[in-house]
This record gives sequence, structure tokens and C-alpha cells, in this order.
Amino acid sequence: MERTFVMIKPDGVQRCLVGKVIQRFEEKGFKLVGAKLMTISPELAGEHYKEHVGKGFYNSLMEYITSGPVMAMVLEGKDVVSAVRTVVGKTNPLEASPGTIRGDFGIETGRNIIHASDSVPSSDREIGLFFKPEELQGYERIDNVWLYE
Ligand SMILES: Nc1ncnc2c1ncn2[C@@H]1O[C@H](COP(=O)(O)OP(=O)(O)O)[C@@H](O)[C@H]1O
Ligand SMILES: [Mg+2]
Repeated sequence: MERTFVMIKPDGVQRCLVGKVIQRFEEKGFKLVGAKLMTISPELAGEHYKEHVGKGFYNSLMEYITSGPVMAMVLEGKDVVSAVRTVVGKTNPLEASPGTIRGDFGIETGRNIIHASDSVPSSDREIGLFFKPEELQGYERIDNVWLYE
């Protein structure tokens, strides 16, 4: 089954949105297979966001993402990469639809609460950056038979 990497950013942790955000994914039906509260090193931040090196917002992004603990997670489910991006909403919270996490909880792009992988190759890369294989749990949700036809 497909997996994706999701991270509640330092603003989401500081604003006590961890529980609400995880609840949305749990209730949607996605399975939590890994989770940890951690502070990102500058090295890991640089590796994670290397596609943005040289952009105008890069330095502030590095400062933001290393400014406090994040909640890193791996979710599993059918088409989970694109489905989670839909639940997360557009990068700019003011443009994100109501009902999405960014649309409901944020205002500025530089404080947009959450990260989610944008493709299956990205999710493979990002899961590998943040989690060791033994930190991911294999189990079946008890409601699995009611989530999938
Ligand atoms: N114009 C911007 N100003 C400030 N921060 C930005 C801007 N564009 C992107 N960012 C930050 O960089 C992160 C990564 O950007 P991007 O990959 O384009 O968005 P997404 O997180 O939706 O995949 C964003 O989530 C946001 O935190
Ligand atoms: Mg991105």
C-alpha cells in the first residue's frame, strides 16, 4: 500500500494543532505507521528542501522549519500521496479551500502548518530521510474492512 511523509511544522506544534491534524488523517481512514516529535537539524532541513535552494524564501524557510519541534509522520493508504495533498490544501493558506488543513488553520505561506510529500518518488525519499525502517509499524486497522471495499 502507498505511503506518504507528513510533517506538522513548528507553528502547528506551537499552536497545539497536532491532535486536530492527526485526527483528520485518522478519521479519513489513513493509517498512521510512523510518528515522532523531533527538531530538524540544519543539515536535514537543507536535504529535505534542496529543491528550493536559491529561491527568495529559502533562508526564511530554513529558519522556520528548524525553529522548534515538528511532528514527523508516515501515513499509509490508497492513493495516500495525492489524497493527503488534497486534505492539506494549497501552499498559500489564504488560497487553500475551507475544509483543508491550511485553509482552516492558517494565513501565510511562510506559516502554513504542515508539509506533505508531492509525489510517490518524493515520499520514498522523504520517508527515508526522516525514518529508519524499524521505526515504521506494520499492522492492520481494525476498521480496515469498513474502509476498503
Ligand atoms: N513565497 C513563499 N514565501 C514564504 N514561504 C514559502 C513560499 N513558497 C514556499 N514557501 C515555503 O516553502 C515550503 C515548500 O514550498 P512548496 O514545495 O512550493 O510548497 P508545498 O509545501 O505546498 O509543497 C512551503 O510549504 C512554505 O513553507
Ligand atoms: Mg513541496
